[in-house]
Amino acid sequence: ASTGAVTVAIDGPSGSGKSSVSKAAAQRLGLAYLDTGAMYRAATWWCLDQAVDLTDADAVAAAVRAMPLVMGVDPAAPTVHVGETDVAGPIRTTEISTAVSAVATNLAVRDELRRLQRAEIDAQRDPSSLSQGRGMVAEGRDITTVVAPDADARILLTASEESRLARRARELHGDADAASVAATRDQVVRRDADDSTVSQFTVAADGVVTVDSSDLDLEQTVDAVLAVIAQVTGTH
Ligand code: DC
Repeated sequence: ASTGAVTVAIDGPSGSGKSSVSKAAAQRLGLAYLDTGAMYRAATWWCLDQAVDLTDADAVAAAVRAMPLVMGVDPAAPTVHVGETDVAGPIRTTEISTAVSAVATNLAVRDELRRLQRAEIDAQRDPSSLSQGRGMVAEGRDITTVVAPDADARILLTASEESRLARRARELHGDADAASVAATRDQVVRRDADDSTVSQFTVAADGVVTVDSSDLDLEQTVDAVLAVIAQVTGTH
């Protein structure tokens, strides 16, 4: 971009380590950070809070268009507010994780949230923004392909199903024993199957670089992502 702002787009499935890696990469580069999955979760929280019938696609879309969503894009302390309500905790509950696909597969909702996501990316081109015009790392399922196909760096973060399940089990249950993995399997595998009906995020699109985190720890994955960003943008 002629302004000097850098946009980094990172997509990947549940349990790929996408959020932790994107946040850490943004911090290392002095960029703002946007968790677009949190926006779909906040939209779901809002619809349930407003007692909107999730099977009524038009009502859901109307509710989301009226949602007073405010994303805090500091990678050291990202925040999610709907109006005055801090929803960072509530959007991570099982209730939301189970319901979110119904909202995220609504095409009018996707149009609206994509518009907001592009506005967040554009805002970071402004010198008075949090990143001082340096740019943003945005992560999700359709950032490399639909939200910011013109991003300076586009990365697909993948991991084997086995390592994704183990990671999520550790997050949810503090352990990755057989019972925890089994309890996690439905959430991770079913949700990714549902989500992939609206966006293809398991295969890298043209020009998107794949980073496989199966055999890497967090720090190694961040280093691998930073190496890709440096290579394609010349950012250090
Ligand atoms: O990454 P996550 O689990 O917080 O994502 C929450 C949901 O939102 C999940 O069902 C995938 C969906 N999502 C999406 O459809 N598009 C995005 N850009 C980000 C998330």
